[in-house]
Amino acid sequence: MKAVEVENLYFKYDKEWVLENINFSLEDKEFMAIIGPNGGGKTTLLKLILGFLKPTKGEIKIYGKSPKENRTIIGYVPQHTNFALDLPITVFDIVLQGRLKKGKFFYSKEDKEKALNILENLKIKHLKDKKIKDLSGGQRQKVLIARALVSEPKLLIMDEPTSAIDPSGQKEILDLIESFDITRIIVSHDIKILLRNVDKIAYIHKKAVIHEGPKLNIPKDKHFCEIELIDFLKEEECGI
Ligand SMILES: Nc1ncnc2c1ncn2[C@@H]1O[C@H](COP(=O)(O)OP(=O)(O)OP(=O)(O)O)[C@@H](O)[C@H]1O
Ligand SMILES: [Mg+2]
Repeated sequence: MKAVEVENLYFKYDKEWVLENINFSLEDKEFMAIIGPNGGGKTTLLKLILGFLKPTKGEIKIYGKSPKENRTIIGYVPQHTNFALDLPITVFDIVLQGRLKKGKFFYSKEDKEKALNILENLKIKHLKDKKIKDLSGGQRQKVLIARALVSEPKLLIMDEPTSAIDPSGQKEILDLIESFDITRIIVSHDIKILLRNVDKIAYIHKKAVIHEGPKLNIPKDKHFCEIELIDFLKEEECGI
């Protein structure tokens, strides 16, 4: 069974198409990067995969079911990190939120253990009782990743998780993401992500051009910025 299947997907908020005829699929544990210009439809595509929005036409299946039916196996790290900055809420509380389910109003001992484990794995256990507003951008980003992972998702969706983080912090977060043995989709303007071990790259600008990672053959030895990479990808003809 495919982890993600997107077929003939079209979407519009009002009159204009935001996404047109998107087709791709991911196998279990594959890692896909999504790139493309501002306003190209990347976040919209993620929200459709998450089941927060409904396709205008076409179909999305997550491990064989609709995104809504399978929402509980998807972890989500949203774009922008100023989340909960004005609330007096601790790191531990935020991570625990990832264990919330419909109709459940308290956390079990297991929930708390899982939250502590994930904080330990991400090496941020020492921040457990800190207020989210007192953390650095990179630390805050890790907390949001911890919140997405604590429900033990089969699919992790991340919307620019390394924006506003310094280069060494970015590397740390990318290493971490690369080490996760689950299906992953990441939106990123970060060129480093694209030169790493992604299985697929989707260039989204209303329509999608999908590139299979191993076939990419991106020159790794010379200086290369995102705009050149995007041109390079657009010229390639390995889309579906
Ligand atoms: N809730 C909404 N209602 C109406 N239009 C929207 C809504 N959200 C996004 N759009 C429009 O849909 C298009 C795609 O937006 P989206 O946020 O998906 O782009 P993006 O690729 O994630 O951009 P960025 O790189 O800036 O995050 C844009 O033209 C945007 O203005
Ligand atoms: Mg976006």
